[in-house]
Amino acid sequence: MAVEDLTVRFPRRGGVLGKVQDYFTAVDGVSFSLPQGKILSIVGESGCGKTTLVKSLVGLVPMDQGRFRLFGEGVLNGRLGKSGKRVSDLVQMVFQDPYSSLNPRQTVSEILTVPLLARGVKLNEAEARAKELLERVSLPVASLQKFPHEFSGGQRQRLCIARSLMVRPRVLLCDEVTSALDVSVQAQILHLLDDLRNELNLSIVFISHDMQVVRALSDLVLVMYFGKVVERGESRKVLTDPQHEYTKKLLAAVPTIRR
Ligand SMILES: Nc1ncnc2c1ncn2[C@@H]1O[C@H](COP(=O)(O)OP(=O)(O)OP(=O)(O)O)[C@@H](O)[C@H]1O
Ligand SMILES: [Mg+2]
Repeated sequence: MAVEDLTVRFPRRGGVLGKVQDYFTAVDGVSFSLPQGKILSIVGESGCGKTTLVKSLVGLVPMDQGRFRLFGEGVLNGRLGKSGKRVSDLVQMVFQDPYSSLNPRQTVSEILTVPLLARGVKLNEAEARAKELLERVSLPVASLQKFPHEFSGGQRQRLCIARSLMVRPRVLLCDEVTSALDVSVQAQILHLLDDLRNELNLSIVFISHDMQVVRALSDLVLVMYFGKVVERGESRKVLTDPQHEYTKKLLAAVPTIRR
């Protein structure tokens, strides 16, 4: 996938009538390309535009400017220009909070099969795929009739990952997917993502504040500061020999464990 000059602006409102006063640029001319099967981490302090950037790729916030290309095709209005494939069939997002991102009234079976049923897949086929993915994320098949509240945070995040994989996407956008989890569970989720990347040749955009995790998991790193990319490169290089002052500060703020 490739992103070129991506810009997202939000209106700033004010006054008693709540009129739009001006625009605030949350993502400011960001470009990057991510080879298939690689993991790109986006780092930067809170509010620098990481979530907005990935949300704009799946249409959760509108892009004001920029180009998004997938497998050599340009994306326009949620579809690939030439083949007409839907972006949502190729790119899926996993969110930070596995508690709020699952509908508490749906069974696991519904949570997993609905995206496929909506695409016209037959029920027995969708259920077979749901079982396959539950096994893949190490949840018992008996989970199918349970509800989200019957699972731990880590299990719920596995469920969210399973749901995102139902449509056989090629790209996963993971926004702080381990931040709401206990440290002991975080490693399992990270290993799962890394294994899935290898097995399915997935590309992963991984947003995290945890530099240890970024170092361990990612091939490439993008450092954002106030909506702009200030440094980029191979993760090993950027994280061991940062060139930009802001990256240096970001790394200095992290306690390091030498191995
Ligand atoms: N829907 C919105 N309307 C207006 N402003 C928004 C909206 N969403 C985000 N913003 C603003 O855009 C900026 C970037 O927000 P974003 O959530 O992308 O940051 P982030 O890098 O993901 O931060 P964090 O690390 O805290 O998750 C912030 O200043 C935020 O207040
Ligand atoms: Mg965020």
